[in-house]
Amino acid sequence: MTRAKLAAGNWKMNGLRADLAEIDALGADLPAGGCEVVICPPATLIAAVAGRVAGIAAGAQDCHAAAPGAHTGDLSATMLADAGATHVLVGHSERRADHGETDAAVRAKAEAAIAAGLVAIVCVGETLAVRRAGETLKVVAAQLAGSVPDGATAATLVVAYEPVWAIGTGEVPTPDQIGAVHGHLRRALADRFGDAMAGGVRLLYGGSVKASNAAAIFAVPDVDGALVGGASLRAADFAPIAAALTAS
Ligand code: PGA
Repeated sequence: MTRAKLAAGNWKMNGLRADLAEIDALGADLPAGGCEVVICPPATLIAAVAGRVAGIAAGAQDCHAAAPGAHTGDLSATMLADAGATHVLVGHSERRADHGETDAAVRAKAEAAIAAGLVAIVCVGETLAVRRAGETLKVVAAQLAGSVPDGATAATLVVAYEPVWAIGTGEVPTPDQIGAVHGHLRRALADRFGDAMAGGVRLLYGGSVKASNAAAIFAVPDVDGALVGGASLRAADFAPIAAALTAS
């Protein structure tokens, strides 16, 4: 089945109001009728990014699993939706590492996100030690099983495969390695949710995606887009990635 291609940018803990000019520049650079584009700025900029430029949606980088209440410093999924976010990353490896987020915690966040009307972009990915031990497929499948809620649908779930060792390092798995993981993830979704759902879920690759390697990555079967960190901060870096995805 045809899946709409998705280029997602993760600004991480970067971005001041002055950087909103990059959103405007990106809007000017994107081809008309191109791939779907979502930028996940820091929470301080979600409302400013939302609706700013046609064709660029706003996403959040995390949400709390609970309903609004006594959780100082946290943001509920409903608040993010209210600010204009349409997507939210959950279970990014930096949050799993920095905040001890477990698969169960990620699943609860994804559930809250979907209940609030957001698309949950669930992130999975192995460490270098896991890859060297030959356990990549087993580990990412377990993360997927633990992190994706039962109610997920092709419209409400996106999965991002991001090898931890490829994030921010300039190292990228081979096309065969990416294809093996994406194929495995789609089969795991099919086993749990059925072929129609699994065939509709977008699987993004993330980790050191750049304009120079984007076309090769997007040529891999079962890669429906990218989750881009460093190269999403500047329109001049991100627009060519979106163009490569549109052309793929
Ligand atoms: P990177 O980050 O593109 O800077 O490697 C990707 C991510 O962490 O989402």
